Amino acid sequence: MTKQPFARRIVIAFVLMTVLVSGVFSLGIVAVVHFIEQRLISEEMHRELDDILHKDLKLGHAPRLDAKTVFYASNLPEYAIPERYNGLDEGFTELLGGDRDFYAYVQEINGARYLLIQEQSEFEAYERALFDVVLAGFILAVLGAWGLGRVMAGKVMAPVSRLAQQVRRRDQLLPLAPPLAPEYPDDEVGHLAAAFDGALGHLRQALERERLFTSDVSHELRTPLMVIATSCELLQQASLEPPQREQLMRIVRASDEMRELVQIFLQLAREKLGETDPAGSTGLTQEAERQYGHWRESMAGKGLDFECLVEGEDDGRYNPTLLGTVMANLLRNALHYTERGHVRLILETGGFRVEDSGPGIPEEEQESIFQPFIRGSRTRRVCGEGLGLGLSLVKRICAHQGWSIAVNALPAGGSCFKVEFSQESTPNPPSGFDS
Ligand SMILES: Nc1ncnc2c1ncn2[C@@H]1O[C@H](COP(=O)(O)OP(=O)(O)OP(=O)(O)O)[C@@H](O)[C@H]1O
Ligand SMILES: [Mg+2]
Repeated sequence: MTKQPFARRIVIAFVLMTVLVSGVFSLGIVAVVHFIEQRLISEEMHRELDDILHKDLKLGHAPRLDAKTVFYASNLPEYAIPERYNGLDEGFTELLGGDRDFYAYVQEINGARYLLIQEQSEFEAYERALFDVVLAGFILAVLGAWGLGRVMAGKVMAPVSRLAQQVRRRDQLLPLAPPLAPEYPDDEVGHLAAAFDGALGHLRQALERERLFTSDVSHELRTPLMVIATSCELLQQASLEPPQREQLMRIVRASDEMRELVQIFLQLAREKLGETDPAGSTGLTQEAERQYGHWRESMAGKGLDFECLVEGEDDGRYNPTLLGTVMANLLRNALHYTERGHVRLILETGGFRVEDSGPGIPEEEQESIFQPFIRGSRTRRVCGEGLGLGLSLVKRICAHQGWSIAVNALPAGGSCFKVEFSQESTPNPPSGFDS
């Protein structure tokens, strides 16, 4: 309950309401008792004094009083007023404190002062008992309100908390997740559940559309790619001039790459990466050699110094299509964005780096370039082509494989992309494996 401020607010409202109502009620009782006490007793004492002055004293009798009442008069020496009562105002006064309590009633007639003193300890004791009961009632009412508030708040909040829990659960996004609204009555919470159903439904549809789109595209591309591959095979059997054969081999390589990419997209869409691995497995060095062979010519063509260095041995086995795509994208970027100097592919234990002597990536862009369709501010000006998708694909593959990718600026200028494999992704990690 303490985790839910709304429930606590209900309890606080309950308690405040009770404090207000029963507080006003209790004060009212106290005030009424006081008022009645004053009115009744002062009337009674006024009548008694009247009787003494107009009946007893006139007839020469001593005043007829009960044991608790005493009569004083300023003009009668035998009833002289004691000094302690001299300061009393005219009318009714309560004398509290000391070991006993008294009422005093003063009346002045023709310059003479008459005083009645009546003991009232017993009544005062009843009064105190009454006030104690009122106070106890007040405290009980507040405690009761607190307890009741807690129970009510729990009851009111229970469906809301349940709904929040259900919405938070991930499986709500599964296509077959049952709707939430039928579980709730047709009240505010029920409407909220219906609203969630609507929003989750839209989200589910959007996810499903995206998934279908990716798998449809990948699936449908496989057939034309097969046609290209078979046609190339047939062409290879024909007698071709060396330059034409070279062109044909380029088409074959490109269609192979496309087939691999289509395979990746299909796997990404199915979110079953690693589970089914039709492409077999490869080692880091093996893949690096393949990529080196693939990019060497283009690098040389641009006048770049391209090297593959081995800083540490790695015995892990990886999905060749995925590792190849990550490496190829980083190398393609290095080639694309480096005008002069070098590009290095450096193999480490448990990962690799791609370094170049290009313009580097400003620190504020180092996170955003991994997002789809985001291109660097410098490159947008220099290089027209490119969609800004390469690194986002690399990042998604790394996330699926449990690898990490990071970019750093090199002290000498240029950038360094570093991929680290996680231990789980390598089924047989070598001893001393370090990632
Ligand atoms: N080696 C690099 N040196 C300098 N900038 C780089 C380098 N690699 C990437 N970038 C910057 O990161 C941005 C995003 O790269 P990414 O590969 O995602 O997209 P792209 O290369 O622009 O387009 P695409 O790869 O889709 O053809 C690039 O536009 C570029 O600004
Ligand atoms: Mg790119």
